[in-house]
Amino acid sequence: MSDKFEKKILCIGAGYVGGPTMAVIAQKCPQYKVHIVDINADRINAWNSDELPIYEPGLDEVVKEARGRNLFFSTDVEAGIEEADIIFVSVNTPTKTYGVGAGKASDLQYWEKTARSIVKASKANKIIVEKSTLPVRTAEAMERVLNANDKGLKFEVLSNPEFLAEGTAIKDLHNPDRVLIGSMETEEGRKARQTMVDIYANWVPKERIITSNVWSAELSKLVANAFLAQRISSINAISALCEKTHADVQEVAFAIGTDSRIGSKFLNASVGFGGSCFKKDVLNLVYIAESNGLPEVANYWEAVITMNEYQEDRFVKQMISAMFNTIAGKKIALFGFAFKKDTSDTRESPAIHVARQLADENAQVTVSDPKALKNAKNDLADLKNISYEQDPYESAKGAHAVAIVTEWDLYKTLDYQKIYDSMEKPAMIFDGRNILDHQKLFGIGFNVYRIGKPAMTHFDQI
Ligand code: UDX
Ligand code: UDX
Repeated sequence: MSDKFEKKILCIGAGYVGGPTMAVIAQKCPQYKVHIVDINADRINAWNSDELPIYEPGLDEVVKEARGRNLFFSTDVEAGIEEADIIFVSVNTPTKTYGVGAGKASDLQYWEKTARSIVKASKANKIIVEKSTLPVRTAEAMERVLNANDKGLKFEVLSNPEFLAEGTAIKDLHNPDRVLIGSMETEEGRKARQTMVDIYANWVPKERIITSNVWSAELSKLVANAFLAQRISSINAISALCEKTHADVQEVAFAIGTDSRIGSKFLNASVGFGGSCFKKDVLNLVYIAESNGLPEVANYWEAVITMNEYQEDRFVKQMISAMFNTIAGKKIALFGFAFKKDTSDTRESPAIHVARQLADENAQVTVSDPKALKNAKNDLADLKNISYEQDPYESAKGAHAVAIVTEWDLYKTLDYQKIYDSMEKPAMIFDGRNILDHQKLFGIGFNVYRIGKPAMTHFDQI
C-alpha cells in the first residue's frame, strides 16, 4: 500500500529537530511517505496523540494535516530502515561527559549506533542525511562505518544541517533563509545531493538551496551557531559596561544595528543565552580548533561561553545585592523557565542556573511558566526549596522579588499594580529580558533592575 508513494523518507530521532522538520516535509510533499522512528516509545505515543511531546507554534496543525496521510510515527526502526530510500539521522549528539574531550567534544555514540543499525537492516543502497549537528568530518567516519558492509551495499552520506530556531520552527521551515546540502564531490555524491535538492524544491525557492562539499556544510552549522552566540555575548558584555556608565544598552543596540553591515537582529541583551545548541556547538568548535593545534582560535571562541556564564552570574549577584545581601527565606518568583519564549524546551536555560543559585542561598523560589513547568520540575528535581505555580499572580503573592527570566509575551500585559499590591515591600522586579515598561513599574512603586541600564530605585542603592 505504501508503494503509491514516490519516495520513502525515514527520520531516526523524533526530537525538537526531527519531529517538526519531517512534519513539514510531509505537509509540503504529499507524494512522499515520511516515517519518523524513535527508540523512546513514550515520545512516539505522544507524537501519535493529541498532545504532542513538544510545544511549537503551528506544529499541531501541520501534524494534523499530514499524520496518517503520509506522515507516520513508530518505534519500528528496523522496518523503517528497510523500506526507506533516504534516511535522515536526527539523534542527539550531546557534549561528552566522559573520556577524551569531556565537556567539549560531541558524544557520537548514538550516531554511530544508528549507522550500525542502518547497515544491519538495509537490503538496498540508500542516501543517509546528517541532520544532527556533528563535528566536521563525521560524514567521512560514517561513510566508512556504513560502507564497510559485506552485503555489497553503497551508502551516500550527505550533510543537511537544520537552522530552525525553536519557537519559530514552523515558520523557519516553511520559509527558510537557506537550505544547505553538502555532499562528497563525486558523481554519486552529486547525484544524491540533487535528490535532496528536489525534495526541498517542492516549496523552497531554488536560489535559497545552497550546495557545498560535505565538510563545508558540517562546519557552516557550527559556525552559524557560534556567530549567533557570539553576538549575544558581545551585546551582553556591553550591557555590563552600560550599567557602569549609565549608557542604555537598547539605545546602543539600536544605534549600531542601523549600520547595515552589523544588522539589527539578535542584539537583545539578556540574562544569557540558553538552548540545546549554542553552548554545545561553540564548545564543539573549540574542541575541533584545539585538536587541530589552534589554541588561539579555541580560546577566542571559548570566551563566548565564559561571557555567557558571567552574564548569568551577574544577574543573580545583582538580585542578591539589591535584596540587601540576604535572600534566605525570602520568596522570589521566577517568571519564565523556558530558554526562550514560545517553547516548552528548558535545555541549558539560564533559568536553571538562576533558580539553582537562588536556592543555594536558601531563598524560597517559585517557578512560573506557561509551557515549561513539566521540564522545569525535571531540571530541579533534586532541590527542596522550589515550588511551581502556573499562575503568575499566585506565584508573586507574598514575594520579595519577581524576576523575568523568559520573554513570554504574556508577562508584558500582566496587571503589575495587582502584583505589587500582593508582594512584600520593598518590592523588587528584575527584568532579565528588558521587556517590561520600567517607567510604569517604577511609578507603581517597584524598585526596577534592568539589563544594561541603570537601576530605578526608591532608595539610595549601590
Ligand atoms: C538533535 C541533536 O541534539 C542536535 O545536535 C541536532 O542539531 C539536531 O538533533 P533535538 O532534536 O533537539 O536535536 O534532540 P532531541 O530532542 O534529544 O531528539 C533526539 C531523539 O533521538 C530523541 O527522541 C531520542 O530518543 C532519539 N534517539 C536517540 C533515537 O531514536 N535513537 C538513538 O540511538 C538515540
Ligand atoms: C539556535 C539558532 O538560532 C538556530 O539557527 C539553530 O538551528 C539552533 O540554535 P535556538 O537555540 O532554538 O536556535 O533559539 P535562538 O532564537 O537562537 O535563541 C537562543 C538563545 O539566545 C535563547 O536563550 C534566546 O533567548 C537568546 N537570545 C537570542 C538572546 O539572549 N538575545 C537575542 O538577541 C537573541
